[in-house]
Amino acid sequence: MALELKPLHPVFAAEASGVDLRRPLDAATIAAIDAAMDRHAVLVFRDQPMSETEQVACARQFGPLDAGLRKATGAATRFAHEELIDISNLALDGSIAARDAARLVGTLANQLWHSDSSFQNLPIKYSMLSAVAVPETGGDTEWADLRAAFDALPDDLRAAVAGRSARHSTFHSRILLGDDKYTREQLERFAPVEWPLVRTHPGSGRQLLFVGAHCDRIDGMSVPEARLLIAELIEHATQRDFVYRHRWRAGDYVMWDNRSTLHRGRRYDLAARRDLRRTTTLERHAA
Ligand code: OGA
Ligand code: MN
Repeated sequence: MALELKPLHPVFAAEASGVDLRRPLDAATIAAIDAAMDRHAVLVFRDQPMSETEQVACARQFGPLDAGLRKATGAATRFAHEELIDISNLALDGSIAARDAARLVGTLANQLWHSDSSFQNLPIKYSMLSAVAVPETGGDTEWADLRAAFDALPDDLRAAVAGRSARHSTFHSRILLGDDKYTREQLERFAPVEWPLVRTHPGSGRQLLFVGAHCDRIDGMSVPEARLLIAELIEHATQRDFVYRHRWRAGDYVMWDNRSTLHRGRRYDLAARRDLRRTTTLERHAA
């Protein structure tokens, strides 16, 4: 069967079917998915429950995997595969974690609009989430299209971002949530990086507004002025017309392009099990 696409939103995001992601994909199918990603930026596959091994094998076909912040923290994982990133409210033994557990901070920081790992100087490309267990209510995920955001920039904001770079720091959103106990080594290992505020998306050739929760400074601006501009840019980029909201079902597999979108989780009752597992790829030439 060939890949079939059904738009989920007027601007971006599509439901994809006709492909079993748990089997090795042929080159034509991978090319079709890449092309769909370039166009839609978010692809939702339904009914693809995956084992850890299947999930890692599936993701690897789209590029080398990056373990993100865990490379610096060396935090323990409940998974056999190092490349799987835990997006859950679970403890290492699989039980629901205490609501004040330190390991929940990263998951909670995901509720701020961000692009995965923009705090790393790496060519981050796709993220893919597999839903194992989801709460009955709450815990949706939203994506915003940064290309649509760029196209709709009013002239004054367009002038304000032209030619400027923003600093992205991994600890910014965590410190905002009160998690500020990092060692000097950890802080140095994940030193801030700079990205232009306006970038060109390689797959579509479209310009995009690259902001998010990891941004804490803008070059040539005072910190307060930069923080206010960052807040205004995120507000612009995430206006409802540019946002697709996903209601999860167990077995969903969602892929998105971190270069052309922001995303955030929505609040849910932390006493309800939410078990999502992520992989993140680098552009292929980064291998
Ligand atoms: C992620 C993420 C949001 C969510 O997996 O990278 O930000 O809804 N997830 O869990
Ligand atoms: Mn994320």
